[in-house]
Amino acid sequence: MSAIKVGVLGGGGILEAHIRGYRAYADAINVTAVADVVEETARRRAVELDAAAYADFREMINEADLDAVDICLPHHLHAEAIVAAAQAGKHILCEKPLCLTVLQADEVQQAVSASGVTLMCAHNQLYLPAVAKAKQLLDDGVLGTVYEVRTTDSFYNDFDPQNMGWRASTATSGGGELMDTGYHPTYLMLHFAGGSPVEATALLSRHRLRFMEGEDSAQVLVRFDNGVVGQLVTSWAYDAPPGTERFSVVGERGSLRSDGRSLTLTLRGSSSQTYDFEDVDTYAYEIGQFADCLRSGTRPLHTEKEGIDVLCLILAAYEGARSRTIAPVFRRSDI
Ligand SMILES: NC(=O)c1ccc[n+]([C@@H]2O[C@H](COP(=O)([O-])OP(=O)(O)OC[C@H]3O[C@@H](n4cnc5c(N)ncnc54)[C@H](O)[C@@H]3O)[C@@H](O)[C@H]2O)c1
Repeated sequence: MSAIKVGVLGGGGILEAHIRGYRAYADAINVTAVADVVEETARRRAVELDAAAYADFREMINEADLDAVDICLPHHLHAEAIVAAAQAGKHILCEKPLCLTVLQADEVQQAVSASGVTLMCAHNQLYLPAVAKAKQLLDDGVLGTVYEVRTTDSFYNDFDPQNMGWRASTATSGGGELMDTGYHPTYLMLHFAGGSPVEATALLSRHRLRFMEGEDSAQVLVRFDNGVVGQLVTSWAYDAPPGTERFSVVGERGSLRSDGRSLTLTLRGSSSQTYDFEDVDTYAYEIGQFADCLRSGTRPLHTEKEGIDVLCLILAAYEGARSRTIAPVFRRSDI
């Protein structure tokens, strides 16, 4: 089987991490074209990857010989890029967020369904061994009925007005920190909750990065259709206090908690059991998973379905914060 030919859209920061994956799985998947609106970036990445350079991603999608695309663009361009790739019959790996509005989600859903391509969300933290083990224990019913999921992704980010670029503006980022890094703890919550989010609210803050249009921190509360309640803390303003869990899940028989590296299972009436894991480069691993899914026809862990669930949850949290209510999670089909 020849290697999958990928065209990358956007040659910036996150591509660095994806390149580690293309190098690790070079027998299965290669970058053969790169598009970046900054021509110098496109040329530099093309030389680095021995690929063709394009300034216009639409031209690359329609002209280059590609099986798939890898979307590493600023957020406001994701929907347009997905629709163009799907219409050209290319499989899609898309960085978070999938897109920015319910209307865009509908367009993405329709384009992907109509073309039959595979879309995988680049939700790299799903590949943390602690996350995979926790999910397996939950699917095996070890905790019984799940009641509560908590996730945290909070760190001191040294953004300033000079280096923040498109992330400082809501028009290009789609919100603030919650729409960006906040996507990670949201998809982890969804993964563990095992249902669909139905209502949400948030408290948003601008603690330190006051030059941002959106929030630099968020606390979110969510209810899922299976009764699970989720709580999430995410921030670029401050590090989480030492000892804060990366995620925890509580159910009728006990709990799971993790700092991201190890996982502790505590069942009522038994002593705790801790699993320790080797560090994994989740960005590289996700490129291998994308190749595997395309070659074997298996469903990625998160497709556009979960990407849209995460987006709609975040949009409801924003609406809850704006209206000071607990807002329903709308999807296009609900309207
Ligand atoms: N999974 C993670 O942990 C993680 C971490 C960082 C970034 N990301 C995601 O990756 C994506 C890109 O982020 P980044 O940090 O690489 O941003 P970046 O600003 O470093 O890179 C974006 C690149 O896109 C290019 N670009 C902008 N407009 C373009 C256009 N119209 N056509 C072609 N190229 C264009 C820019 O020139 C730049 O090179 C975002 O969706 C972001 O949320 C994910």
